[in-house]
Amino acid sequence: MKGAKLKSFLLIQMAFIVQDVYSDVVNNVGDKIVGGSLANITNAPYYVLMSISGPKGQFSCGGTIISKKHVLTAAHCVKGFSIVKVRPRISSKKESLKDKPWISGSFVYHNKYGYRNNLDYDVSVITLSTPISPDSLAQPIKVARAGSKLAAGIQLTACGYGATKEHGPTSNDLRCAYIQTYSYKDCLSQYRRSRAPTDRQFCAGTENGVSTCRGDSGGPIVVTSSQELLGLTSGTYYCEKKGALALYTNLVNKEVNDFIKKHTSD
Ligand SMILES: *[C@@H]1O[C@H](CO)[C@@H](O)[C@H](O)[C@H]1NC(C)=O
Repeated sequence: MKGAKLKSFLLIQMAFIVQDVYSDVVNNVGDKIVGGSLANITNAPYYVLMSISGPKGQFSCGGTIISKKHVLTAAHCVKGFSIVKVRPRISSKKESLKDKPWISGSFVYHNKYGYRNNLDYDVSVITLSTPISPDSLAQPIKVARAGSKLAAGIQLTACGYGATKEHGPTSNDLRCAYIQTYSYKDCLSQYRRSRAPTDRQFCAGTENGVSTCRGDSGGPIVVTSSQELLGLTSGTYYCEKKGALALYTNLVNKEVNDFIKKHTSD
């Protein structure tokens, strides 16, 4: 997970996704937090750093503990890779590996992901080889119940180790930021018709350029007031541009919610 190799791979991976998904716009797919602040894992004990590797190389994403044995992430983080590991309990990548080691897992992603060659159905469930014993540093979070359309203006907390600048490196420390949901209409106005957000996605952002960015992919989007997991960081054109909205996997969508239930029932 360290050194120039990982960094350049991250860029390759992201470039690949951008080309695939947003071929007409050159920029980032959801990877770090821009404009947030340093966070202690005790304030987001559901957060895990993820290492994903395979023939294409190695990169990092975010994940969310939803039960002792299960972690959620984005399908685009794991598709095409073979080895997935999660690291709970850390506020910094520099914390002791001996005390806070990686846990390996197996993954499944939604079978409709990639079908339309975009980020629709961007959800994956990881089953851990060793269950997590909950404590103040590692704790499952409740997934929001399947339900109706999301209102605009809901305050959300986004966390991750992603880039803090549009083209900057990913962060060594966990950071979190407040963003909010926007209406479908606001969202649609920023995406071409062919990339129009689906029911499996929602848009969120801020007026002032606070955003998720490269490296934040797969990470948790939590309703600040109720502390329920509402979304997963999925994709965006811009990190720092004022008013730019990013796409998140919508966990209250029934198809997405049913997929999670089905693969966490064991
Ligand atoms: C996080 O908070 C805990 C409990 O207050 C503290 O022991 C720990 O040192 C903090 N970690 C960091 C990285 O600040």
